[in-house]
Amino acid sequence: MDKRYEKLLESRDYVRSRTDFRPKVALVLGSGLGGFASELEVACEVPYSDIPGFPVSTVPGHAGKFIFGTLEGVPVVCMQGRVHFYEGYDISDVVLPARLMRLLGAEILFLTNASGGVNKGFDAGDLMLIVDHNLMFFPRNPLIGANIDELGTRFPDMSHVYDPELCDIIRETARGYGMDLREGVYCQLTGPSFETPAEIRALGALGVDAVGMSTAVEAVAANHCGLRVCGVSCVANKAAGLSPTPLTHEEVQEAANKAAVKFTALVKGSIARMK
Ligand code: HPA
Repeated sequence: MDKRYEKLLESRDYVRSRTDFRPKVALVLGSGLGGFASELEVACEVPYSDIPGFPVSTVPGHAGKFIFGTLEGVPVVCMQGRVHFYEGYDISDVVLPARLMRLLGAEILFLTNASGGVNKGFDAGDLMLIVDHNLMFFPRNPLIGANIDELGTRFPDMSHVYDPELCDIIRETARGYGMDLREGVYCQLTGPSFETPAEIRALGALGVDAVGMSTAVEAVAANHCGLRVCGVSCVANKAAGLSPTPLTHEEVQEAANKAAVKFTALVKGSIARMK
């Protein structure tokens, strides 16, 4: 059996030994949503470090666990903390959690993150519905290697990675709250250095609206294994060259924390409509 699939099944069996909870929606909590778990009626928590072989993040503010619970009656599994490619993990480990949540029963993957605003009209604190992504500069498509046939097809279509119906639900939720919601294309780069102004100008010319270091590889792997995907990005800062101040991780976290109340409301309200 494919080693990556074997590891996935081992992770699934371990989680199943802890809980028989079947989530409908899987939610990846990015910067600013770390406190989201308090919105759930929690049924069970499984720290990543308990799962044999599971990748555990080294980034401050990303300490990780799965939280199973219900949100407005919808069974949800939250990933509090994710691993990034720049931490040195194999790309198959970076996308293992998304695949695992599929095997645990999830039908929808809701991705969130913090990003830098490439679109000159975006400000720090804006929320952006991810309508498409650009992964062309990322060195490793997560589906490289023998296809895992048990999960999906060799050449999956990526015309609608971000499910149009789910995008509509998020738009309607924002409208219902009278909340401004930006929309755009998210580009994932490896990091961990922030971009140069020249890189940001190049991305802008290519139609990118926001840039970050996560999410798109998860979206590809999720799409491959049959999850319906949606995503919202918190624009934590204007990207390099568009603001006079140098970028820091602390600034990103602070801006994401400031947007946390509206970000939480948008995600919670949207999931409630995904029954
Ligand atoms: N660049 C890349 N990733 C990010 C940024 C940025 O400016 N802000 C938050 N995550």
